[in-house]
Amino acid sequence: MNYQHSFHAGNFADVIKHLVYVYTIEYFQKKDTPLFILDTHGGCGLYDLLSEHAQKTQEAHYGVMKLNHLDSRHSLLNRYLSLIQPYLNQNVYPGSPCFAAALLRKQDVLRVSELHPPVYESLKEHTIGFKNIYVTLQDGYESMRAYLPPKEKRGIVLIDPPYEIGNEFTLCAQSLKDAFKRFSQGTYIIWYPIKDHHAVSHFKKSISSLSCEKLELTIELLTPGFKDKLNKAGLLVLNPPYLLQENIQELQSALEQVMAVNIDTRIL
Ligand SMILES: C[S@@+](CC[C@H](N)C(=O)[O-])C[C@H]1O[C@@H](n2cnc3c(N)ncnc32)[C@H](O)[C@@H]1O
Repeated sequence: MNYQHSFHAGNFADVIKHLVYVYTIEYFQKKDTPLFILDTHGGCGLYDLLSEHAQKTQEAHYGVMKLNHLDSRHSLLNRYLSLIQPYLNQNVYPGSPCFAAALLRKQDVLRVSELHPPVYESLKEHTIGFKNIYVTLQDGYESMRAYLPPKEKRGIVLIDPPYEIGNEFTLCAQSLKDAFKRFSQGTYIIWYPIKDHHAVSHFKKSISSLSCEKLELTIELLTPGFKDKLNKAGLLVLNPPYLLQENIQELQSALEQVMAVNIDTRIL
């Protein structure tokens, strides 16, 4: 495995992914009943923005750091900013397990899998002391087979693979279809890079038979220096929470201006 999220943490795609993740978690938490969250590809949980990796790519600089000190009256953006501010004050950016950990209530459960042993060790360290968080050294797709459906019956599955193996889109589509047979009422958030357009459209086509609402968000970084790097990504949300699309649309122009991105949202 070569992929290391420390090169990319806090970039334009992380910002959108984590905004959607925060909105989804808090939407489920409007009810008191327990919530189950499965984060299949957890990463290490916390990323040093002054590290050699982060400094080399400058991705956070053109992503989350553009939002730093942004004054927004929009409740989702404010929520996201209030969650990241304590971390940014220490020059770190939280990964998905830390966002969920910060929002977890005593009745909720978070399961995180990570396959890369050193990353798993850091993840354990960064989530130590939190209750109801179970971190495992495990393949993310295997964790979908193991933990779905959850006994809580209400749940969110975040699928955020590195796409460094050739068949990742196929593996992801198969795992989704299999998970859906057992847990069709869950909300699934799937991140993917948009560079191989054929693979992306094949992926969307292969899951089109799943009978649920599908919200697609695409985000493209317009900063010229990123032309030859990954500058476009997508998020697919199956069974999206009520008003997620509207909330992202309300933020769209502010995000587009400060991060120099194009955002598109559509129901598939
Ligand atoms: C894009 S990063 C995750 C970022 C994280 N979800 C976040 O938002 O902060 C992908 C992670 O998946 C891990 N990984 C790669 N293959 C995996 C697999 N089959 N199962 C679980 N984790 C895997 C990588 O080591 C990497 O840490």
